[in-house]
Amino acid sequence: MRNSRIAGVGHYVPERVVSNKDLEKLMDTSDEWIRERTGIVERRYFQEGIDTTSNMGAQAARKAIKAAGIEASDLDMIVFATLSPDYFFPGSGVLLQRELGIKEIPALDIRNQCSGFVYALSIADQFIKTGMYNHVLVVGSEIHSSGLDFSTRGRGVSVIFGDGAGAVVLSPSESNDKGILSTHLHADGEFAEELAVLDPGSNKNARLTHEMLDSESIYPQMNGNLVFKHAVSRFPEVIQEALQKNGYQASDIDMLVPHQANLRITSYIQQKMGLPADKVMSNIHKYGNTTAASVPIALSEAVEEGRIKDGDLVCLAAFGSGFTWASALIRW
Ligand code: COA
Repeated sequence: MRNSRIAGVGHYVPERVVSNKDLEKLMDTSDEWIRERTGIVERRYFQEGIDTTSNMGAQAARKAIKAAGIEASDLDMIVFATLSPDYFFPGSGVLLQRELGIKEIPALDIRNQCSGFVYALSIADQFIKTGMYNHVLVVGSEIHSSGLDFSTRGRGVSVIFGDGAGAVVLSPSESNDKGILSTHLHADGEFAEELAVLDPGSNKNARLTHEMLDSESIYPQMNGNLVFKHAVSRFPEVIQEALQKNGYQASDIDMLVPHQANLRITSYIQQKMGLPADKVMSNIHKYGNTTAASVPIALSEAVEEGRIKDGDLVCLAAFGSGFTWASALIRW
């Protein structure tokens, strides 16, 4: 079996910048509260008619394809992670495929929320390991801003999320000491409704009713304290799992790229793992939590900023709705 490696990475964020001060005009919140509790200063919101989940994914994908030194026509498969697809169905993978003009290759959609990108990466890795495919495009893209409650009722959730997209191209590695060393995926459906959007859903006679439009059920509901508690234990656990599997310790990590859930969660992981701040990627102040897009955007910026070099040990980790959590250990 051969390893896969990240041959190229790229990201795209919408132009529209929305600051905490902008949100103060919509709901009872404050720049100070948001910064203190989350570390977020601003985030990007899509513009209708310009950005879609699939076309933002395509913008990030074009950069990743270019960085990998291949053509879109060389791709063998698309794996698209999102919780905010363009349509209820079909998934955004086929829309991105159409946008890139690469007909007939398979397009798979992944719905694992904040862990979606790491799940998608793991799936792509298996296809390359077995020799079935050579170049797989892995995308995470989200538009949260069209589905948030901007009244004071929704302030505990709405201030956290932002829009954006990131992508990588996975290709075969020249050596088995390099590339993706292992991936680790977990879920616990016990907590499914603790961070969820419940309506519209297929489990009611009418998927969407007038009553729903006035209720909270069409917006993300989050038990923030419970999510926080689980996140700070699952992140270190799944990072340790990846290190142990490969005979490494936390001090061997050159760059940890965690899902950007909340700066306080990232700081906690950093302390728990005993890592210096410069070995933990953080860009939540600029983009908020972009769910499936957050790991590839952070990875793309880390590469762009020269913070990941050839031969570095890079760890990706995520936790989110489901609950789901996951990690990937990579020799760059
Ligand atoms: N602005 C101002 N006040 C707000 C607010 C906002 N945007 N959102 C909530 N509040 C208020 C609450 O109403 C509450 O007021 P009360 O004490 O009068 O009832 C107070 O702030 C404290 O709320 P609480 O929910 O206890 O705050 P917290 O310290 O737990 O922080 C989160 C809230 C959401 C930031 C925190 O729970 C968290 O980060 N959870 C994890 C979220 C996450 O990472 N989700 C993504 C997972 S992938």
